[in-house]
Amino acid sequence: MSDILQLSPYAPDELNRELEAVAKVHRWWELGKPESIPADIAASITAVATKGDLGLNSALMASLPNLKLISVYGVGFDAIDLEQARTRGIKITTTPGVLTDAVADMAVSLALTASRRIAEGDRFIRDGKWLEGKLGTSFSIRGKNIGIFGYGRIGRRIADILRAFDANILYTDLAPAAGEEENFRANALELAKDSRILIVAAAGGKSTEGLINKDVLEALGPDGLLINVARGSVINEGDLVTALEERKLGHAALDVFMGEPKIKQALIDSLHTTLTPHIASATVETRINMGRNVIANIQAHLAGEELISELKF
Ligand code: 8YV
Repeated sequence: MSDILQLSPYAPDELNRELEAVAKVHRWWELGKPESIPADIAASITAVATKGDLGLNSALMASLPNLKLISVYGVGFDAIDLEQARTRGIKITTTPGVLTDAVADMAVSLALTASRRIAEGDRFIRDGKWLEGKLGTSFSIRGKNIGIFGYGRIGRRIADILRAFDANILYTDLAPAAGEEENFRANALELAKDSRILIVAAAGGKSTEGLINKDVLEALGPDGLLINVARGSVINEGDLVTALEERKLGHAALDVFMGEPKIKQALIDSLHTTLTPHIASATVETRINMGRNVIANIQAHLAGEELISELKF
């Protein structure tokens, strides 16, 4: 038998039906989200269909003796026990490419929402404050230095869009991009020093954990705007709360958080944050493409064919 363990439902619902047409699907959430899968079901499972933020933890993976494929609806693989997957020869696929535009659009939307005070203006009207006075001025992103932390597919797409706003793009990655050497900065601190807006678009995981810390946030400064569409783990959230409270950082617009969906109350209470619930890739068009990619990879695995988008890790 070659069954699928699906960890969470996909949206729109047609994707769940399409997945079920491929092989027998065991819905982890309907099994009560057990830490390990009961042996009678576990033996039949050769593929796990998961999501970027959910991944696959050590205990759950260890309970699946015949697992061969982890298919991720998303590009993040920081929540997968990579060591175990490597040791056991389990393959991983992600959905690169199909979500680049949606996530880049979201980063730019957050930059505009925060700089033009759109979410704040919405609250201002609903709270009846317009009757008492004006909201005040905002700032333009045009002509500003915008630093992108993580210059991969998504980071570069963000840069492409922002160039239409006449922004000066700076970036940090492991190495300078060909032809863009002079806009490269060696690390997050150097990038923040030169930027009015800092956009986090780097992969999560150990290598980037907490890199956006107190020094970086203070270098961005009281007029600075921090955007995160990557992973909450890249930012030291304790330092972020302090920097916002002490007014050493202007504003943070965040789509991702540590421990989401249960996020720090101080971020919710702050007047200097704009918050969205991890929706950067959540357009219906993008989610359909992500879901179809997951399904196509599982079909290839079941047919013994080459995977569509195998991750090298
Ligand atoms: C999705 C993501 O929101 O790509 C990722 O790694 O976190 C997002 O695209 C997620 O996979 C769906 O839950």
